[in-house]
Amino acid sequence: MLSKKQEYELITSIKGRGEIPLKFAYLGDGAKNWDAIASERTDADNGINSVEANLLRKKIHNFIASFPEVKKLNIIDIGCGNGEPIAPILDELSKQDIELRYVPIDISQEMLDLAEKFAKDNYDDIETKAIVLDFEMGNFSDVMFELKEDDYSNLLLFLGSTLGNHSGRQRVLTNFRDSMSSDDYLIIGVELTNFSKINRILPHYEGELPQNFLYFMPEHIGIPKDKTDYDVSWNDKLNQVEVRLVLKESVNVKIGAEEFTLEQDEQILLSRSVKFAEWTITKLLSEVGFRNELLTTTEDRGYLLSMVQPTRYGV
Ligand SMILES: C[S@@+](CC[C@H](N)C(=O)[O-])C[C@H]1O[C@@H](n2cnc3c(N)ncnc32)[C@H](O)[C@@H]1O
Repeated sequence: MLSKKQEYELITSIKGRGEIPLKFAYLGDGAKNWDAIASERTDADNGINSVEANLLRKKIHNFIASFPEVKKLNIIDIGCGNGEPIAPILDELSKQDIELRYVPIDISQEMLDLAEKFAKDNYDDIETKAIVLDFEMGNFSDVMFELKEDDYSNLLLFLGSTLGNHSGRQRVLTNFRDSMSSDDYLIIGVELTNFSKINRILPHYEGELPQNFLYFMPEHIGIPKDKTDYDVSWNDKLNQVEVRLVLKESVNVKIGAEEFTLEQDEQILLSRSVKFAEWTITKLLSEVGFRNELLTTTEDRGYLLSMVQPTRYGV
């Protein structure tokens, strides 16, 4: 399931930072665990996917207005998950006289398969082109460039507050910026929060579905769930929810040919989810070198969508 490079990255991050990067949880059968969570986030009244979808639907005309007279458009769904969050955009654009190509991008082939299936099942004759890549590893300007052949324009989407899961948020956004030309657009969706909401957010990380999802990789490398405690906490300094496992006894871990022991009481970070304030996300986007084209939030200021473009310095 893991490539050699991913094995080395996993070993290094466990030994170096005490962390199993969340991105590995989506690989292989982990994709099904995520799909179960995503369905719940879509169904529940306040699930963040449905909040995001409602906002996207409400503002879709404003977003599309940035592509006047476009005839061919790549909808590039970065970190696609099961593809469903993109529905508000495809619903609207598929009614118009535009040739659409759905381009899911993900580290997980299994997520890409689900996303492609969703698009093909719901949109007649839509062309799809799935791309496996790890967007933390550098820019993917070659991929974006090729997609623009035959006069296609590029609309990138980074939905579901995925940005908040990454420790190197600036690095991830820089990789996106360096993959975009000055006429490409990126729509990014993030969850906002205020301190009164924290106690309502934490239980979302505690149920059976999140645990199945987050224990997938630990169990794959030899850390049985019953030898750990599961800990969800709010990190006030970093404004993030953190999920950890704490070892109740020592365990032997095996990753590829490498074997090592984790000692009792060691803690491994399984997930972080940064919650943004309007000013922290706009500052981050601007520091990375994006100009804001459109910014909108839900009425309760709980979710934000921002449409940005790379800044052309000196122009
Ligand atoms: C939190 S889920 C969000 C999925 C979807 N956008 C949504 O809103 O439901 C994150 C997605 O990004 C993918 N992902 C995470 N880290 C990645 C990376 N470094 N490179 C490529 N894909 C990544 C995961 O496999 C997963 O499909």
